[in-house]
Amino acid sequence: MATTAAAANLLLFSAVLLLATPSNAASAAAPAVAAMPVQPQELLLSFRSSLNDPSGALSTWSRSTPYCNWSHVTCTAGGGGGGVAVGLSLQGLGLSGDIAAEPLCRVPGLAALSLASNTFNQTVPLQLSRCALLVSLNLSSAGLWGPLPDQLAMLASLASLDLSGNDIEGQVPPGLAALRGLQVLDLGGNRLSGVLHPALFRNLTKLHFLDLSKNQFLESELPPELGEMAGLRWLFLQGSGFGGAIPETLLQLEQLEVLDLSMNSLTGALPPAFGHNFRKLLSLDLSQNGFSGPFPKEIGKCVMLQRFQVQGNGFTGELPAGLWSLPDLRVVRAESNRFSGRLPELSAAASRLEQVQVDNNSISGEIPRSIGMVRTMYRFTASANRLAGGLPDTLCDSPAMSIINVSGNALSGAIPELTRCRRLVSLSLSGNALTGPIPASLGGLPVLTYIDVSSNGLTGAIPAELQGLKLALLNVSYNHLTGRVPPSLVSGALPAVFLQGNPGLCGLPADGGCDAPAAPPSRNRLALAATVASFVTGVLLLLALGAFAVCRRLHAAAKLVLFYPIKITADELLAALRDKNAIGRGAFGKVYLIELQDGQNIAVKKFICSSNQTFGAVKNHMKTFAKIRHKNIARLLGFCYDSHGGGGEVSVIYEHLRMGSLQDLIRAPKFAVGWNDRLRIAIGVAEGLVYLHRDYTPRFLHRDLKSSNVLLGDDFEPRVTGFGIDRVVGEKAYRSSLASDLNYSCYIAPEVNCTKKPTHLMDVYSFGVILLELITGKPAGQPASDDSVDIVRWVRRRVNVAGGAAQILDPAAAVSHAAQQGMQAALELALLCTSVMPDQRPAMDEVVRSLQLLHSPQTLPPPPPFTGVAVEP
Ligand SMILES: *[C@@H]1O[C@H](CO)[C@@H](O)[C@H](O)[C@H]1NC(C)=O
Ligand SMILES: *[C@@H]1O[C@H](CO)[C@@H](O)[C@H](O)[C@H]1NC(C)=O
Ligand SMILES: *[C@@H]1O[C@H](CO)[C@@H](O)[C@H](O)[C@H]1NC(C)=O
Ligand SMILES: *[C@@H]1O[C@H](CO)[C@@H](O)[C@H](O)[C@H]1NC(C)=O
Ligand SMILES: *[C@@H]1O[C@H](CO)[C@@H](O)[C@H](O)[C@H]1NC(C)=O
Ligand SMILES: *[C@@H]1O[C@H](CO)[C@@H](O)[C@H](O)[C@H]1NC(C)=O
Ligand SMILES: *[C@@H]1O[C@H](CO)[C@@H](O)[C@H](O)[C@H]1NC(C)=O
Repeated sequence: MATTAAAANLLLFSAVLLLATPSNAASAAAPAVAAMPVQPQELLLSFRSSLNDPSGALSTWSRSTPYCNWSHVTCTAGGGGGGVAVGLSLQGLGLSGDIAAEPLCRVPGLAALSLASNTFNQTVPLQLSRCALLVSLNLSSAGLWGPLPDQLAMLASLASLDLSGNDIEGQVPPGLAALRGLQVLDLGGNRLSGVLHPALFRNLTKLHFLDLSKNQFLESELPPELGEMAGLRWLFLQGSGFGGAIPETLLQLEQLEVLDLSMNSLTGALPPAFGHNFRKLLSLDLSQNGFSGPFPKEIGKCVMLQRFQVQGNGFTGELPAGLWSLPDLRVVRAESNRFSGRLPELSAAASRLEQVQVDNNSISGEIPRSIGMVRTMYRFTASANRLAGGLPDTLCDSPAMSIINVSGNALSGAIPELTRCRRLVSLSLSGNALTGPIPASLGGLPVLTYIDVSSNGLTGAIPAELQGLKLALLNVSYNHLTGRVPPSLVSGALPAVFLQGNPGLCGLPADGGCDAPAAPPSRNRLALAATVASFVTGVLLLLALGAFAVCRRLHAAAKLVLFYPIKITADELLAALRDKNAIGRGAFGKVYLIELQDGQNIAVKKFICSSNQTFGAVKNHMKTFAKIRHKNIARLLGFCYDSHGGGGEVSVIYEHLRMGSLQDLIRAPKFAVGWNDRLRIAIGVAEGLVYLHRDYTPRFLHRDLKSSNVLLGDDFEPRVTGFGIDRVVGEKAYRSSLASDLNYSCYIAPEVNCTKKPTHLMDVYSFGVILLELITGKPAGQPASDDSVDIVRWVRRRVNVAGGAAQILDPAAAVSHAAQQGMQAALELALLCTSVMPDQRPAMDEVVRSLQLLHSPQTLPPPPPFTGVAVEP
């Protein structure tokens, strides 16, 4: 929600300015100066002293510069009173330790505090309630747990409170209703429970932004008091156990821009005036609830609406006519309801619709001619309805159209020539009453990969032109097709072609010829059955993986297979594999980072695969890897196989995480991560390996483990990536590439060159090297600039020398006695893992157990005194 964050920042900015007006600023500074002789910089230094600051972000704070010049501190001068509003922006600094709110809140004029995106492990500090002048408090994703203290209600100036993404539990204290100036309240993504007190809504009349989403233990109805929050613009209540009906008063929220009530247990009919006042609404999501009754016509008054999502409810009656003429509407999702009536003609020239999904309703009438003429339309699905009449010949006039599914209706007539939709990928017309031939022009659509025209009354031959397509599925079964099946559709390793239920077809591999016009002899049926059976197995496997396999044609040779629905075509993928996007070079080829249209990042590893690896073989390996589900293993999203000339080129697509790889982190100018987080990375990587080695079937080895193949999530939860390459490039090529890749040879166990068979103990060695990187904070290849040995030798040379350990442990992490002890123990484990003798190395599950022991409570700061502290008013 970029808009949200921006709006919140704007709000904070104005709030700080507001505070800095003469009267406020004067009252801010005066009492503190009078009562507390302690200088603000002393208070801030005292606050810092209880923090763990592994990256040294606050190390420049010093008495020799005025605190207003310190990093992450801002001072905003007041108007004429000389007061100063102080802001502290400490988000995302990897801070842990104890939040010493007591000295902090005595800093005069403290108006804005952000400790967001850090790794504190404590309750919400009670003492923060003493920061009487706070306007903005941001504790989102800060590792906080426990209940929300009532005392926060004392922060009378608060305009913005963000506690999202923590593990805060218990009730939302009704006392928060006293924060009458609150404009932003974000409690999303916690473990809050119980019923929300109506006063929270009745009194917080200034709110612009309210997020209570993803608190699955809340059990509230939407209170009528919600309507009092007249300024509300963003309301996020999705996935939070809300039940009951939508109160009439909700309709008073005239400023609403985003309303998300999805994935709750809301029921009943919508109030008839729903939509009447929502002149500014951009996005409405009521999906996955239990709503019923007709959808109010007033939605046609929401002139700014872009997204209309009501799927997965029990709505009845017609989709409101006014909806379709909204000028900005992009998305209509109404599938799986009980809508009836017809789809209207659109004014195709004016419409900006991109996606219309109305499957699984009771919609009747004809498919509007205009649907396919909307130039932005890329998905039209209306399967499992009661549509009748013919397919309009304009169905595919939109140049963007990619997916059409109108299967399971009562459509009749012939399939029109579809020639314009050059981007059509998937065409499902099955289960209708279509007649006439399959148009040969389908063979001219360049990226068409999925054709299902089964269970109709189609006649004639299967057009030979379809042989030019790179099909993932062609289902023509149960029609009245006749004649010769084009040979390449049934030969070799072609994808799934389903022909059964067409007794007039002939020309199958085992069949001599096509002269006999009668039903084929039983021999043919057997062959047909065999072909079908082998294809069925393949396709079922694919479907089991999520049914999102899409192969697209390119240079007549590239096939893209996706196991997850990511938005990219083979053309786009291959076009993006340019140096501009390269982020590294492994033993086998380059690695690229590509940002998709929807903002998601993918990493693509491209290599030449050995000549005996067919598309089918590669696909089988990739499917095996794509099925892995483990929190520490990156997902394999798909691959692209480009087979021009001899051996193929394979680009494997993995998910990528925003924080990048462990190698990026280690090579950054300052590797500033505390020991606890480093240990968490090590445990995660080790758990991922245990899964591959022991728990996943089939078991396999990683064989290319290195810090650049360890991706990091937001909270340092690692995901191992880059596995499976040996299966693609073939064993021989794999070994010779490994041997030639000097950059990463330091991760490779010494016995690799003299053993035939790879073993899990080789992965253990590589893991040991990563553990050494975490302990020393140095890159494995060349830990010291004046010495060309690798990290294993570098450590071994120092480990038995007196005082050597002090050189080995990274001073940036060995900040406490406890951390030093933990690192020392991890060092011993790492030395075992990198032992020259394979049989001295522990198995990965033993490694996990040893590391978990290090993660014992005494290595963490003591828990904060929660119950012991009483707050004096
Ligand atoms: C709180 O901080 C996070 C991280 O910096 C930011 O994304 C979020 O927008 C902030 N919340 C508010 C309300 O400003
Ligand atoms: C503090 O910042 C102000 C404004 O940027 C600057 O004029 C002043 O020289 C700085 N003082 C020190 C000691 O750095
Ligand atoms: C937080 O601290 C508790 C002990 O107080 C510990 O059990 C838990 O694992 C810690 N959580 C994290 C994420 O470090
Ligand atoms: C809500 O506001 C009313 C005054 O309008 C006040 O009496 C009441 O105490 C407030 N509720 C809370 C919980 O602060
Ligand atoms: C069709 O919609 C009904 C609700 O109207 C739902 O229960 C059912 O699961 C849906 N079927 C499919 C295949 O999505
Ligand atoms: C088309 O719709 C039918 C019925 O809803 C569904 O079973 C089928 O999977 C859909 N086809 C595609 C390619 O999504
Ligand atoms: C092909 O179509 C037939 C008839 O509609 C259906 O039974 C079968 O499941 C389809 N096969 C695949 C793989 O979609």
